[in-house]
Amino acid sequence: MSEHPRTVLPPEPLPGTDELFSLDRTVAHLNHGSFGSVPVPVQRLQRRLHEEQEADPDGFFGDLPERVADARARIAAALGTGADRLALVPNVTDAIAVTLANVPLAPGDRILVTDHGYGTVTEAVRRRAEQAGAELRTVALPLGTPDGDAVREAVLAEVTDRTVLAVLDGITSTTARRVATPDLLAALRGRGVTTVVDAAHEPGMLAGPVPADADFWFGNLHKWAFAPRATGALVVRPEWTGKIRPLILSWEDHQGFPSNVEWRGTCDYTPYLAAPAGLDLLDGLGADRVRRHNEQLAAYGAALLAERAGLAPLPHSAGVAMRALRLPPGVAETLPAAQELMAALWRRHAVRTVARPWPGGGVMRVSAQVYNRAQEYEVLASGVAEVLGRGASGASGTS
Ligand SMILES: Cc1ncc(COP(=O)(O)O)c(C=O)c1O
Repeated sequence: MSEHPRTVLPPEPLPGTDELFSLDRTVAHLNHGSFGSVPVPVQRLQRRLHEEQEADPDGFFGDLPERVADARARIAAALGTGADRLALVPNVTDAIAVTLANVPLAPGDRILVTDHGYGTVTEAVRRRAEQAGAELRTVALPLGTPDGDAVREAVLAEVTDRTVLAVLDGITSTTARRVATPDLLAALRGRGVTTVVDAAHEPGMLAGPVPADADFWFGNLHKWAFAPRATGALVVRPEWTGKIRPLILSWEDHQGFPSNVEWRGTCDYTPYLAAPAGLDLLDGLGADRVRRHNEQLAAYGAALLAERAGLAPLPHSAGVAMRALRLPPGVAETLPAAQELMAALWRRHAVRTVARPWPGGGVMRVSAQVYNRAQEYEVLASGVAEVLGRGASGASGTS
């Protein structure tokens, strides 16, 4: 076994990133994709905003609409869209609910999702389809499906004249693949299909990610854009803005989109106000440099897992700072088994990573962010080899 995989080398750590987060350094945090991590300066700003709020609640809430509008404008610019098309929302879970409540559906209509969709998003679509008497069609994307054309053709092959809506991932959660590419969205739009993009991972990970052809696009800034949790954005195409009704009626309802969706009564709006500081920080580090670093480090982690623990790398998409690998058959095929694998890695090796069930053998996903170092992936790879009872070559049996 070589000390490092031969073809993939880890990137140099970016200057100024050692002390940027308050993560416990005795733990290898290789799961940035799930909950993100808020940089210390952004945490501090949010704390100051809370202090300001508690010093004079009337003054704070009085000025809030203007301050939220400023934050919205900064966030819209970073996402490559117009502020009049963007509503700040707490997260993607919220955004899909607003979206589904606003898309007209009739009995017999067909809705497309894929088998890589995020669990609660797909479930929300299923319920909405049931309520409307519409039919949910799940496009199968076998794990080995190569990127680009193959994904696009598989989705388009399911479109019929009854297909009115497609809910697709920008970057899938378990498999870290790009599905809703601009090409695919343009083709769907050309066929009269309303498109909804779950872009939970795109803000911060991709440059200017909002595609022209998505009717509804939403993402989280608390994953890869260094914003406090809960900061999300819902972007709609201009023809929808006048029609959007919020789920929660507030005093701002009469203002229409985006204020009608953004406001939900007395609530904590400090994440929105602090989010631009996260974007500034990303720009300060060099957003493109961060992206290249993270993508390369994720590739390094995947190469180590393949080499040392014998996992099978799955096809990956350019620009994604996460990699997915197939666990051996029989491993992590159920949710409890996947949870037990994650718990064993945590208990025995102090590693945080994600394993999710998949028919025929679970999927492990590694993330990479500027605070991660090559050595943490070495701990993960040897830990996975040990927990699975595999030798250094990955050739021995599984447990
Ligand atoms: C693809 C995808 N969609 C939706 C979500 C849900 O995000 P949230 O819990 O912030 O609403 C996630 C979270 O990991 C995700 O990866």
